[in-house]
Amino acid sequence: MMPPRAAVPPPAAADPLGDVVCLADLEPLARQVLPPMAYEYVSGGAADELTLRWNVEAFQRIRLRPRVLVAMSEPDTRVTLLGTPLACPILLAPTSYHRLMHPDGELATARGAAAAGVAYVVSTATTTPLDAIAGAADGVRWFQLYPLAERERTRSLVAAAEAAGCRAVCLTVDTPVAGARNREQRARVRLPDGISAPYFHHVIDASNARTRFTPLSWADVAWLRSVTRLPLLLKGVLTGDDAARACEAGVAGIIVSNHGARNLDTVPASIDALPEVADAVGGRVPILLDGGVRRGTDVLKALALGAAAVMIGRPYLYGLAVGGAAGVTRVVELLRSELEAALALTGRPSVAAVDATVLWDAPPGRPLGRPSGRPSGRPFGPSSSEQ
Ligand SMILES: Cc1cc2nc3c(=O)[nH]c(=O)nc-3n(C[C@H](O)[C@H](O)[C@H](O)COP(=O)(O)O)c2cc1C
Repeated sequence: MMPPRAAVPPPAAADPLGDVVCLADLEPLARQVLPPMAYEYVSGGAADELTLRWNVEAFQRIRLRPRVLVAMSEPDTRVTLLGTPLACPILLAPTSYHRLMHPDGELATARGAAAAGVAYVVSTATTTPLDAIAGAADGVRWFQLYPLAERERTRSLVAAAEAAGCRAVCLTVDTPVAGARNREQRARVRLPDGISAPYFHHVIDASNARTRFTPLSWADVAWLRSVTRLPLLLKGVLTGDDAARACEAGVAGIIVSNHGARNLDTVPASIDALPEVADAVGGRVPILLDGGVRRGTDVLKALALGAAAVMIGRPYLYGLAVGGAAGVTRVVELLRSELEAALALTGRPSVAAVDATVLWDAPPGRPLGRPSGRPSGRPFGPSSSEQ
């Protein structure tokens, strides 16, 4: 008689995040698991996608200045932003429609962000109600506002965000109309049956490249400040003039952003706009930056040029698609550990010790070497004039 065969355990389900060693590894994996329409929605930019490319390339052109023999233990990545302590200067940018990427949608994003100790900025175009997101995890959340057509409904939405524990409001000011998103149009992006955006009714319409949003002016900024106690940040500022005006309007922070290159193609990369904005702000309010942040060295460069923190968009959406909450956490942990390495290799024991002297090249007109100087002008590297 044959001896009984030893039971062979079924193969362990492969961890989809198992081979991911950097943020760039996630995009091809996400492409495999997402419906083509959703992948096109996330990865696409406006028009010819020149700014989409520049957002990444502009970081790559900036060179760093290493330091040796600077004995230190693990660098300290903690920061305090608008009074809130955070594990590192990385936030999850507001992005729409997370249930297109993963069935758990914004609930998974909130859990993943909380596990990584970073703040998550919930979009007005969330596909999950704010109170459900609040119930999913204890992490720090802010709210991104696209004002609604009537002020009273906008006021109630901001009150609902506040009641759901959001600690700041980011008013997106760079989207009076959506950009010419040709890739979305070709992919006929739409929300499938069963997924809706409870607060956002400018629902994507691939047939119309120029979907209108509620028009906004500086008067709306003043009004918004008058109806909430939450700190108000403006998201989508690229010029010194607008940044100075925002400070005069009493905002609590400025987010240098070109909307992930989804609106006006051929505007500069966000990192190229940062020095002008930092000069105009002159330290009055914290500056955040998003657009093309893919490496810990990118975070370091943004800090060196005047940002208090950065936000990431597409990378965590790819993480969400591939691994749900764990995918979001993995993205932040990879970026944070690269930032720690970059701090150590440039001889900085903490984020607070980062200044323009981590850069190899002095921005024009500003010699390096000042202990805490904030440079002005464009960051430049070997070929920065070749945009
Ligand atoms: C799929 C997608 C949806 C987005 N939705 C919003 C949104 O609802 N509100 C907003 O202010 N910005 C939105 N953005 C812009 C992001 O907040 C952020 O500025 C941008 O993604 C940063 O660039 P990155 O993707 O290169 O990191 C979205 C970006 C993407 C990719």
